[in-house]
Amino acid sequence: MILILDFGSQYTQLIARRIREMKVYCEIHPCTLETEKIKALNPEALILSGGPSSVLGEHSPKVDPALFAWGLPILGICYGQQLMVSLMGGKVEKAQHSEYGRTELKICGGQEDFFYGVENPGVVWMSHGDRVISIPPGFEVLATSQGAPFAAICHKAKKLYAIQYHPEVTHSQGGTQMLHNFLFEVAGVKSGWGMESFLETKTQEIKAQVGTNKVLCALSGGVDSSVVAILLHKAIGDQLVCVFVDNGLLRKEEAHQVVDLFRSHYHINLVHVDARDHFLGQLAGVSDPEQKRKIIGREFIEVFEQEAAKIKDVHFLAQGTLYPDVIESVSFKGPSAVIKSHHNVGGLPEKMRMKLVEPLRELFKDEVRELGRNLGLPEAYLTRHPFPGPGLAVRILGEVTPEKVAVLQEADAIVREEIKKAGLYEKIWQAFGVLLPVKSVGVMGDSRTYEWTLAIRSVDSVDAMTADWTHLPYELLGKMSNRIINEVPKINRVVYDITSKPPGTIEWE
Ligand code: XMP
Repeated sequence: MILILDFGSQYTQLIARRIREMKVYCEIHPCTLETEKIKALNPEALILSGGPSSVLGEHSPKVDPALFAWGLPILGICYGQQLMVSLMGGKVEKAQHSEYGRTELKICGGQEDFFYGVENPGVVWMSHGDRVISIPPGFEVLATSQGAPFAAICHKAKKLYAIQYHPEVTHSQGGTQMLHNFLFEVAGVKSGWGMESFLETKTQEIKAQVGTNKVLCALSGGVDSSVVAILLHKAIGDQLVCVFVDNGLLRKEEAHQVVDLFRSHYHINLVHVDARDHFLGQLAGVSDPEQKRKIIGREFIEVFEQEAAKIKDVHFLAQGTLYPDVIESVSFKGPSAVIKSHHNVGGLPEKMRMKLVEPLRELFKDEVRELGRNLGLPEAYLTRHPFPGPGLAVRILGEVTPEKVAVLQEADAIVREEIKKAGLYEKIWQAFGVLLPVKSVGVMGDSRTYEWTLAIRSVDSVDAMTADWTHLPYELLGKMSNRIINEVPKINRVVYDITSKPPGTIEWE
């Protein structure tokens, strides 16, 4: 296991991603982790991440200098470099000019291991205010840049490496190769971790954790909860009970597909709660977006609890918590701490007083998909666009009624169908319809119409934090518009949303 100590850099998760892509398991822990705990984790190598602090500051985060004497291979990145240098007898000062962005890197050593196969000179991504001005005894220089005479240094015998730039970002040429070299050439780590070995160890862990007890799982139809359910079913079979609440706000055919897949294909013990009327009843007359969200969240917990009470002797609740959520909650204060996330089943575990089973806690989203693939989840299911917890309620402006839900389901299905036919579905982050219950005039045949508008929303994004509207071909937009107006009653006008995020959001609410 590789241990990454996080000093608050926005890139820390990226380091972990790169390492796992090399089939080596790694974990991120806050830099405040006690030395004893670091020892207990028994890492094969340690990485000290970057961070926003300055080692010159009075209260800057530190590590126990004894770490450097353990014989453990250590790589310090940016702040990690400065920390290693200052704790081992070198000097760091505030640079006159901070170096930021692409910088030329001249390599002068380490080509046989750390820089093996890396182009020289190369281009790396710098982002620092402080810099090293003298290196500790026993260290040598491996590379320089214009602003950093000690851009890469090492103490070969002790296997201590420290670099000023960020090898984990894609702008650093050969950065992945350097991380690879550190792991395999310097630290002698073996690869082999992946979803297959994860599956094996995780099923054993789940069995050991729950014994002969029953586990309850809220199945939403999304990738995370689906993978949790199938994984648990593989580990404990019929001790798993899934509850799927149909709130009447799902996409067309979705409820049917979920039930069919889990019951008929996986033979999972599934309670299908048809709560459509209940949810739509609660939403009647409500048009404030926050209010709608609150009602849906509250009613979900209510309905789920009622169903759970009918199942005897359940002490465990399964949740699809992912690694980014775990890191967020322990993260050392830094930019990575402010990224928001939506918790759809928030409040459930506290209220139900059950022990949690969170088998995906160590995984990133793409690893969850890979695991789903290993468990035989159909590809179309795994690559489905994200869908918000409150469902179509955030895509119908104003009051939600059964009629509006039915109209939007039809129109939205056409949007997605045409995008799939055009071969664009996998390239797009999210594409869907939004119902604007604003009436405008049209003509159809010889008669005048006075009906609602449908907005098509399609965005490109990598993490939903920022997004740009997709430049969909005009022909495709035209086809969707024609079909929606001809096939879906109550809609006589279609518009395309060309707002990026920010300033817009992806959903309209
Ligand atoms: P916005 O509209 O904030 O959406 O730009 C960003 C991403 O989050 C999704 N979204 C939600 N997902 N529960 C969720 O699970 C929610 O309440 C929720 N609201 C928005 C949205 O679809 C987009 O992918």
